[in-house]
Parts: sequence; C-alpha cells; structure tokens
Amino acid sequence: MIVCVCRAISDRDIRAAAEAGAERCADVFRCRDTEPQCGSCVGMIVDLLRETSHGRSAAMAVTR
Ligand code: FES
Repeated sequence: MIVCVCRAISDRDIRAAAEAGAERCADVFRCRDTEPQCGSCVGMIVDLLRETSHGRSAAMAVTR
C-alpha cells in the first residue's frame, strides 16, 4: 500500500527502512534519498515505524 503518494513510498518500504535502523520519519525519506513534499503522510509513517519497532522489541524480548 502506498503511504506517501508524493514520493511513492509504500508500507513495505517503511518497514524495510525501520528494519534497517530508521527511527524517525526523516530517516525513511533519507533512505529513499528524498524529502517530504506535502507532509500528509508523516503521521502514518510514524505509526508504522512505532509498530515495527515494537514488534522488533517484542521479538528481542522473547529471544532473551
Ligand atoms: S504524501 Fe508524503 S509528502 Fe505528500
């Protein structure tokens, strides 16, 4: 699903960026070598980053 229409960034791109270490919305755009245009996607990007980092934290807690 496309999350950022301006820059054609999908939820998969955002999750991949989070897995690669992106913690902030700006990191996602940096991974794509671009910048936000209208900014309407920022909230959803932040939510997806949180969701992915929580999943990663939970997985690490289980393996410890
Ligand atoms: S929808 Fe992402 S910058 Fe416009």
